[in-house]
Amino acid sequence: MKLFLFLALLLVKIPATLPSSAEHRCFCKVTGSLDDCACDVETIDAFNNKDMFPKLQKLLSSDYFRFYKVNLNNRCPFWTDNSHCGLRDCAVKPCTPNEVPEGIKSSTHKYSKEVNEAMMECEMAEKLGAVDSSLSEETRQALLEWNRHDDESERFCMADDEESPDSQYVDLLLNPERFTGYKGPEAWQIWNSIYEENCFKPRTVKRPLNPLVSNSGETFPLVSGRGFYSWLEGLCVEKRAFFRLVSGLHSSINIHLSARYLLEDNWFERKWGHNVTEFQQRFDEDLTEGEGPKRLRNLYFLYLIELRALAKVLPFFEQPSFHLYTGQPKQDGEMKELLLELLRMAKSFPLHFDETTLFAGDKREASRLKEDFRLTFKNISRIMDCVGCFKCRLWGKLQTQGLGTALKILFSERQIESLPKTGSNTPAFQLSRQEIVSLFNAFGRISTSVKELENFRSLLSKAEL
Ligand SMILES: *[C@@H]1O[C@H](CO)[C@@H](O)[C@H](O)[C@H]1NC(C)=O
Ligand SMILES: *[C@@H]1O[C@H](CO)[C@@H](O)[C@H](O)[C@H]1NC(C)=O
Repeated sequence: MKLFLFLALLLVKIPATLPSSAEHRCFCKVTGSLDDCACDVETIDAFNNKDMFPKLQKLLSSDYFRFYKVNLNNRCPFWTDNSHCGLRDCAVKPCTPNEVPEGIKSSTHKYSKEVNEAMMECEMAEKLGAVDSSLSEETRQALLEWNRHDDESERFCMADDEESPDSQYVDLLLNPERFTGYKGPEAWQIWNSIYEENCFKPRTVKRPLNPLVSNSGETFPLVSGRGFYSWLEGLCVEKRAFFRLVSGLHSSINIHLSARYLLEDNWFERKWGHNVTEFQQRFDEDLTEGEGPKRLRNLYFLYLIELRALAKVLPFFEQPSFHLYTGQPKQDGEMKELLLELLRMAKSFPLHFDETTLFAGDKREASRLKEDFRLTFKNISRIMDCVGCFKCRLWGKLQTQGLGTALKILFSERQIESLPKTGSNTPAFQLSRQEIVSLFNAFGRISTSVKELENFRSLLSKAEL
């Protein structure tokens, strides 16, 4: 009997030794229900990894979604930016077919297949750039009307990228978000400005920078340290949410960098893959003074906010007059079907936010909040012009615009619900192509991050054995 008891105790004891495990330290608090929301992490994992992620990947590889128009040449409006880093992996390949020399195109060089594919893609992008010329007069008029309606007061991000002659189409599939080597004080300054000056932090809250963190070039400096979260408690639920969204975005970016880390870099091979150490440095509870798991929870929070925006925007995409126009009617039709399927899936997800807490204040309060959010978000999108690394700038801009679009949707519920089913000249709610592309690609990043967490979880548990 005694032996049995001892064994039973031993069995009970085993889980208690787990807290020291690396997997546990990253994920122990990333489980169960999330604050401000009636949902739990496990349900999101299953929903995303099995259903949402694969469908979304398919959608995002279509022509409509892979070409993003962006101006990467804006000057940083807040401080003098050091000339853009010469890191090879920071470069963004814009689509300019003329830059590919004839010789390479026609030779049997081993890269010719890749180059040819790139060429075709670039021609495709050029076609997309010329969308207007192939539109009927009626559609062109409608677009003009939409543009006029899509007025400044509704925008959450800077609009100039859409109209600027400096903007180029970038093929997102050819420019994946991954480790670039961009870090240190410069990268640090970006997040510093966002957290310190653009997250509704009261001026009275002063907190010394964490010297340990800044020396190492860690890009999470200001979210760590005890007491940092205490100022959050004084904020209304939406402003608290804003901070968590930014932190979630930051987490997602860092998950991507850890999952597409440059592991091999020599004359015969360059290989990107998972770097568990890098992941731990950013998310392990012990190595981050307890912040890591909070960051991961914020990622799920961001996922839910964007998911909810997708659910809410369904009526806009259901309008018969809406097309994912690329000039190939059959493919365009199929992609619209896939898009609607995805949005209906988002709508069917059972665990959304408590509608009575978030974005649900009285009308005057709501419009003031919307304005606060809008201005702050616009400012953050300008800070993205200060990101020295072009590839990081590209993805930073895309993701802030995507999140901005999600917020615009959440703040426009009434307008979306009142959209006429038959089409009208002056719709009360509009999204530009760029907003649509960024919304879905941004959600695609977050969805990929959630999926990557599954990979890191299993890598960490294997590393232990
Ligand atoms: C915009 O961001 C910059 C840089 O962080 C900051 O100095 C400025 O106060 C912000 N402006 C507004 C209106 O929030
Ligand atoms: C993984 O990242 C760490 C930094 O977190 C770095 O020191 C290490 O060299 C990386 N490992 C590989 C295989 O590149």
